[in-house]
Amino acid sequence: MTPSRRTLISRAITTLALSALSALPALAQGSPKLKVGLMLPYTGTYAALGNAIENGFRLHITEQGGKLAGREIEFVKVDDESDPSKATDNVNKLIKRDNVDVLIGSVHSGVAMAMAKVAKDTGTMLIVPNAGADAVTGPMCASNIFRSSFSNWQPGYAMGEVVAKKGHKKVVTITWKYAAGDESIRGFKESFEKGGGKVVKELSVPFPNVEFQALLTEIAAAKPDAVYTFFAGGGAVKFVKDYAAAGLKKTVPLYGAGFLTDGTLDAQGADAADLLTTLHYADSLGTPRDNAFRLAYAKAYKLQPDVYAVQGYDAAQMLAVGLTAVKGDISKKAEFSAALEKARIDSPRGPFTLSKSHNPVQDIYLRQVGGKKNKLVSIASKALADPGRGCKL
Ligand code: BEZ
Repeated sequence: MTPSRRTLISRAITTLALSALSALPALAQGSPKLKVGLMLPYTGTYAALGNAIENGFRLHITEQGGKLAGREIEFVKVDDESDPSKATDNVNKLIKRDNVDVLIGSVHSGVAMAMAKVAKDTGTMLIVPNAGADAVTGPMCASNIFRSSFSNWQPGYAMGEVVAKKGHKKVVTITWKYAAGDESIRGFKESFEKGGGKVVKELSVPFPNVEFQALLTEIAAAKPDAVYTFFAGGGAVKFVKDYAAAGLKKTVPLYGAGFLTDGTLDAQGADAADLLTTLHYADSLGTPRDNAFRLAYAKAYKLQPDVYAVQGYDAAQMLAVGLTAVKGDISKKAEFSAALEKARIDSPRGPFTLSKSHNPVQDIYLRQVGGKKNKLVSIASKALADPGRGCKL
């Protein structure tokens, strides 16, 4: 059947209208999806951490009705395997092949440093939802790089003060040999030695090895007053179990950055009982904000949240603050950053602001393991700000 004159005219109008529409900027067409590149570990010793971060991030978006600043969210996910040697390629693919609007990642400090380098070079907005690499908010800091978590220095520094106040004089440290472990120990040592103690031995194993026996024998021989450690995820589970099995738990008090017992207590069981750690979250804060978050998380995932879930949730809250300020147009980077720089994030951990170098200024809690919880003991360090050494912003 030949189309009528009226049909032909109507088709021509539709074609004209469509081509005019495609010439408009994407935002004017009614907010296209915002592409979020989630670069997290989904395999290996930090797999549970990556999953908790994603859960927390998605929870906040769900609570906002699936949109931030009127834009639906599309996720592009990469398993970074906590492998720094693959990180630059992975992040370049997200930016150049997948055209993500914002990067969220990662857990491992080495991976995050590679992400920060590419983010700085390309100007892509980056929110780090865990990795504590001091350099990210130190010498590598940039106006487009933010962290929703902590610097490795922060929990270590807070614990150094606690251990010195307890009167311990001689401490051995043990960790994985990479930025997170080294910097956590450095933070601890700085305040512990200022408080009159001495770190007499620094032990380490390569990441992600969990062969601790020889080093535990060295600790027993050194007979220190206490041990300070940084391990996380699967490695933390193994270390706490091995420490107890070696008989050290009864003779040498073990202290750690809170990752030692966060998200790990089901697997550690009685071997983690009573351990003291420092972190920017605890399972028994009891504030209305935290109670509401814990309830919503448990309902959504049939799991209890941990510090990683909180950091993922807050990364989404930070993205929401920036995006709202620019009405969804993330190309307005200066306005996006300015909004975050003056924001007060209403976190389940307690409200926090960002330091000049974009790291949370936050309370660091002393917690003690009781049952399946890291229970709040006290505030070890109030509103602790990372010194941001080397950051020029
Ligand atoms: C890090 O590599 O920065 C890190 C990993 C797990 C827990 C905490 C810090």
